[in-house]
Amino acid sequence: MKKPINTFVHCMNNRISGILTLAVVVFFSTTSIVRSQLPPIPDGQRLKTLAARHRILTGGSSDLNHNDVNEEAIIKNEFSILSSENCLKPYAMQPSENTFEFSRSDRFVRFCKDNGIIAKGHKLMARDGYLPKWMLDPKLTGPELEKILVNHITNVMGRYKKGSPYGEIKYWDVLNEVISYPCIFEKIGTNSEGDYLYWEQAFRTARTIDPDCILIWNEDNIEFDQPKAEKLYETIKRLKLKGIPIDAVGFQCHIGFHGQPIPDNTYLELIFQKFADLGLYIVISEMDVPDNLDSVDIYKNILTVCLNQPRLIIWQTWNVVDKYSWRKKENGLLLFDENYMAKPTYYSVQQVLENTSLKNSNLRTTPGLY
Ligand code: XIL
Repeated sequence: MKKPINTFVHCMNNRISGILTLAVVVFFSTTSIVRSQLPPIPDGQRLKTLAARHRILTGGSSDLNHNDVNEEAIIKNEFSILSSENCLKPYAMQPSENTFEFSRSDRFVRFCKDNGIIAKGHKLMARDGYLPKWMLDPKLTGPELEKILVNHITNVMGRYKKGSPYGEIKYWDVLNEVISYPCIFEKIGTNSEGDYLYWEQAFRTARTIDPDCILIWNEDNIEFDQPKAEKLYETIKRLKLKGIPIDAVGFQCHIGFHGQPIPDNTYLELIFQKFADLGLYIVISEMDVPDNLDSVDIYKNILTVCLNQPRLIIWQTWNVVDKYSWRKKENGLLLFDENYMAKPTYYSVQQVLENTSLKNSNLRTTPGLY
């Protein structure tokens, strides 16, 4: 009577081991499919290695929310710094008053930590378009807005300050695009020289929360718009004289955006030097160039001017691969195409890094590089 049961058990064992074998085969073959689909590593040396010889950091921006192993492979291979794209913006971090949303930003910072990449936070304070709706309530008074500003910076920056178990953000865009666009925090008032108090408060608070962090004032269009760059220069000069802790100026460099002019090399040299003379680091924070302009030459020219500036510490693009570029209506803006392949723009950047003299590299003291 026991025999049929034994046969049944035997049969089941065979089946289970068959299923297991099949599962193992499927697992390994899918893994190897995924592996073999990873983008080929471009010829030559990796950008982060070449950049390190100049003692600068290089990278791009991504929230890593595409769960795309190809994009992540490029970041791990090529980048020494990664900026968040949207997940650390005020509207994303504090969607309603005093409710902070850390899940996506934690993931971003952890990825950087796990892969030995410096995390750059974008952005603590911004113009109205990047603030949550509740912050824009016209009923909020100056003193209330001041509390909101300090509370936001304290919580968001505090989460990722030096030594944090969640990982560290070494560079922060403290102010972004506020020199010429409206921001509700202007309501807090101005100082005796007419500069907005929230500019001072933002940098002062940031320095108090994490004294080791490099604090950036990031702006759009200053790579070609001379009056705007002058205004920013005069403002930062006044604020620095008062001891406001501004460490770096960020040039976004979204080249040709809305048909804007291509930056002129001589002007770029001069404007970099002017900011450098204030004791600031220079950061290229968001570069992208549509391929229908001469993207190969434009990347080459701007990076060459950058490497000739000893205070330049970061050169990075906005996004990583063309597929996820925020400039959706334009074609091909980055160093990697829709299929994750290195483009002529990649090799142009690689060549400039390889061929430009290293004469400035020992003048550089890029924080976090080593
Ligand atoms: C962009 C993001 O890349 C987009 O995904 C989003 O829809 C709009 O904002 N300058 C900045 C960045 O400072 O915050 C902007 O990022 C690009 C221009």
